[in-house]
Amino acid sequence: MGIPLRRKTNETMRLLITTFAGIIFGFFLGVSFPTISLTKMNFPSSLFPSIDITYIEDKYSGLSTEALLDAFNTFKANKVMSVPSSKDNETKIWIPTNPRGAERLPPDIIESESDLYPRRLWGQPSEDLTIKPKYLVTFTVGISQKYNIDAAVKKFSENFTIMLFHYDGQASAWDEFEWSKRAIHVSVRKQTKWWYAKRFLHPDIVAPYDYIFMWDEDLGVEHFDAEEYIKLVRKHGLEISQPGLEPNSGLTWAMTRKRDDTEVHKVTEERPGWCTDPHLPPCAAFVEIMATVFSRNAWRCAWHMIQNDLVHGWGLDFALRRCVEPPHEKIGVVDAQWIVHQGVPSLGNQQGHAEGGRAPWEGVRERCRKEWAMFQDRMADAETAYFKAMGMNTSNLIAHKWIES
Ligand SMILES: *[C@@H]1O[C@H](CO)[C@@H](O)[C@H](O)[C@H]1NC(C)=O
Ligand SMILES: *[C@@H]1O[C@H](CO)[C@@H](O)[C@H](O)[C@H]1NC(C)=O
Ligand SMILES: *[C@@H]1O[C@H](CO)[C@@H](O)[C@H](O)[C@H]1NC(C)=O
Repeated sequence: MGIPLRRKTNETMRLLITTFAGIIFGFFLGVSFPTISLTKMNFPSSLFPSIDITYIEDKYSGLSTEALLDAFNTFKANKVMSVPSSKDNETKIWIPTNPRGAERLPPDIIESESDLYPRRLWGQPSEDLTIKPKYLVTFTVGISQKYNIDAAVKKFSENFTIMLFHYDGQASAWDEFEWSKRAIHVSVRKQTKWWYAKRFLHPDIVAPYDYIFMWDEDLGVEHFDAEEYIKLVRKHGLEISQPGLEPNSGLTWAMTRKRDDTEVHKVTEERPGWCTDPHLPPCAAFVEIMATVFSRNAWRCAWHMIQNDLVHGWGLDFALRRCVEPPHEKIGVVDAQWIVHQGVPSLGNQQGHAEGGRAPWEGVRERCRKEWAMFQDRMADAETAYFKAMGMNTSNLIAHKWIES
């Protein structure tokens, strides 16, 4: 790691030699420089990295000594002397519009966004990436689902970065798959998809990706192709979407059921009395959280809504509509590329915790419901607080609750 980088040394030596030769040359010409002494030419070594030596050399080599020294003095005045001292407020950098905490940096050096592209340790950085995937797919996995995930990954082209969140700590057990070597593996035991997403998919980290697929491990993908899916999502302007679910795989909501007569649908009819407004969940503006696909902008919003402690994400599906406008047009289900929800309760049973004679999944399920109620309450409180702060009458603001706390 600690390889000393000495690439400036040659240039430094060349400058010193050029300068030195120039001074002697100047003396021989009879030009008088009473104030010049060699000690003056000794730069404090800490300044070397900030001096653009090649700039001086290229621009002034072949000029007279006087011109060289003039140039050097100008350079010192412009560059070296502008290194801020504590007495000198004028030259201190403070850019309030920089990212928080980075106000002291010159804006051009700031890289506020990153990516998940692996790089080489050698060669030109600009030549590291032969392909920059434009899409990201994440699966939250345990090794018992490896053949299912292998089948799923094969439906995603080389235009996808593949990221696995391992909830069973078995990240190296996937090496038998060739694609696993280029995947990003994150291994933290017994966590949920939304826990990983909040920690490892910050919007500034996943900024290069046009679309982000956040998928569970128990999805059947026989009738799914990711590139075709993205074409439809773009065509229909969907910011938040999911593939249609095969009708006989234990459905909860009418909205996510695959339809045979359309490419995409954005509204549905639910059971009588379930929808107070045809443009609101669960009749529209709604997808589930098992196979969600976000656009870059929608994810930037959704990430901020994910609560650090509410790890199951229940209730998030009802709130996603707050991230896009108008939600009943930007949220939808892609029918032409559909999946099967196999409903493997692996997370609940293997990663849960048996307590008081109950099966592990029971405790997990109970927490899911609790979290849903807590999320609804927090959202309602936050909204009320906002409208109150705006001086609005909140007494007729009725929270639309699906689950009672
Ligand atoms: C420099 O900054 C300090 C602290 O911010 C301030 O008290 C002082 O007045 C400033 N001096 C000038 C010359 O602006
Ligand atoms: C990957 O993306 C490029 C550029 O959008 C596209 O031309 C190519 O067909 C894509 N690859 C696959 C396998 O679809
Ligand atoms: C707020 O609205 C309710 C119902 O619309 C009304 O009864 C109440 O007087 C209003 N309160 C204020 C402070 O305006």
